[in-house]
Amino acid sequence: MKVEALPAIKGNYNLQDYEETYKTFDWKETEKSFSWSETGKVNMAYEAIDRHAESFRKNKIALYYRNDSRKEKYTFKELKELTNKAGNVLKSYGDVEKGDRVFIFMPRSPEFYFAALGAIKLGAIVGPLFEAFMEGAVKDRLEDSEAKVLVTTPDLLYRVPVDQLPALKTIFIVGTDVEEDGKYVDFLKHLEDAPSSLDIEWVDRNDGLILHYTSGSTGKPKGVLHVHNAMIQHYQTAKWVLDLQEEDIYWCTADPGWVTGTSYGMFGPWLTGTSNVIIGGRFSPDAWYKTIEEFGVTVWYSAPTSFRMLMGAGDEVIKKYNLSTLRHILSVGEPLNPEVIRWGRKVFNHRIHDTWWMTETGAHLICNYPSMEIKPGSMGKPIPGVEAAIVDDQGNVLPPNRMGNLAIKRGWPSMMHTIWNNQAKYDSYFFPNGWYVSGDSAYMDEDGYFWFQGRVDDVIMTAGERVGPFEVESKLLEHPAVAEAGVIGKPDPVRGEIIKAFVALMDGYEESDELKEDIRQFVKKGFAAHAAPREIEFRDKLPKTRSGKIMRRVLKAWELDLPVGDLSTMED
Ligand code: WT7
Repeated sequence: MKVEALPAIKGNYNLQDYEETYKTFDWKETEKSFSWSETGKVNMAYEAIDRHAESFRKNKIALYYRNDSRKEKYTFKELKELTNKAGNVLKSYGDVEKGDRVFIFMPRSPEFYFAALGAIKLGAIVGPLFEAFMEGAVKDRLEDSEAKVLVTTPDLLYRVPVDQLPALKTIFIVGTDVEEDGKYVDFLKHLEDAPSSLDIEWVDRNDGLILHYTSGSTGKPKGVLHVHNAMIQHYQTAKWVLDLQEEDIYWCTADPGWVTGTSYGMFGPWLTGTSNVIIGGRFSPDAWYKTIEEFGVTVWYSAPTSFRMLMGAGDEVIKKYNLSTLRHILSVGEPLNPEVIRWGRKVFNHRIHDTWWMTETGAHLICNYPSMEIKPGSMGKPIPGVEAAIVDDQGNVLPPNRMGNLAIKRGWPSMMHTIWNNQAKYDSYFFPNGWYVSGDSAYMDEDGYFWFQGRVDDVIMTAGERVGPFEVESKLLEHPAVAEAGVIGKPDPVRGEIIKAFVALMDGYEESDELKEDIRQFVKKGFAAHAAPREIEFRDKLPKTRSGKIMRRVLKAWELDLPVGDLSTMED
């Protein structure tokens, strides 16, 4: 495909000569930025917060926060003290120790970050849970991780099946008028009284830091464990890719329940000592543009779905706001349409920089940098220190312009450490010759740019969120009317994909719109709103293999009017 490249702009970090840097760069260089490279003992929360609180940045704003009812800001020094206090509360009332899983299930708020960083200071492993999760999703994650402590709000507590979680010893409630009772502890009350100094637990670079659950095409969600060592790459890419500078005001729109909201919503910006804007509440074009104006956002990291929604809201609304502070815009999570890049140039006068990576990879791998030409529609090139290739199903590297599996040579610093309780699953990501297989298909052009083509598996990306069809099918099957269910991603101009469910009903149930709505609500209330099928279609019978597996590719072919392919394994 012939596309016109957008000219490079000047970046602040030296990727000016990408080819040269790519040839010579070694992650050991980045390690030297941290004093722990000599002692080997490290703590992410120290590097992200305390180090700055003890430097010329101590009175610099680390966190700007706003939601519908609160507006606050915290300096690095204040964040150091508050995270120390949070650590003391978690330790004194929850007996939190190194390696314990501390889950945090609450809307975006300063307290989320106090608790997360406080837990990290104790050497605990933080498990962030997206606030929209309902009981089933919460239970799966707390159960698999054997979480010992949960931090949540009174509003969300009803979604935590405490009686069914024997490992869960203490629940910290963030709210007012909390009744303390046995395992329930008032977080804010004790936060106020707690000492503001804390002995940090120094850990090894490969000790656990954060556990993000993510979906595959089969089975329950899996826990992707990241370790403190990942900071090397968070830090380096916050410079190279986010291009963060001392004066920047940075806004990442992702929720910390997802990896973008932690790697680049807390670690990356704070490791580089950047002022970080965190916004609670719902999406609306006015609220978003107002955020940029109000805080003077200079670097903005968001997702294609959001850009498409803003684009859909029209250009008039943009004129109401002063967006002149913006200097660098980035995107992640799904393919970034060239049309959106064109729109971005028109309305913001900036290129939108696509970045590619995954929960499992922990940080940026393939990106467009400021100092590089952008080919709209391409994810860019591998960052220095990362070797990417297109490989066939045996792990052999393919030449340019051939489609295949997007693969990365094992050994980048932020690579996941394991899959929680499932080393076999972890091992299954790699070819024996050391290539990590992403599950995406792509090709590389003759200039070394990578072009996303699709998922190899059935994983659905809807509005930037990754949903496993199996989990949705399992929930659907719990509905009394549902006999069989098959779930696919259906292309959608705004959301990338929407979730569509094919359902065969139990005998005695009549097809109706009310029943469709009832089934939809069942998934929404029992699992998660973003995972509820937007479309449901009743079928008498679903296509299955002889071993009884729903053939999603056949459902997809039906839906998209494509050839169904090989049906030799299908039951009669
Ligand atoms: C999957 C990973 C890591 C942050 C957000 C998603 C898709 C990610 C891009 C991109 C096309 C992309 C891939 C990938 N994806 N970035 N720039 N262009 N697709 O993390 O939930 O772990 O999902 O998101 O399919 O495998 P995730």
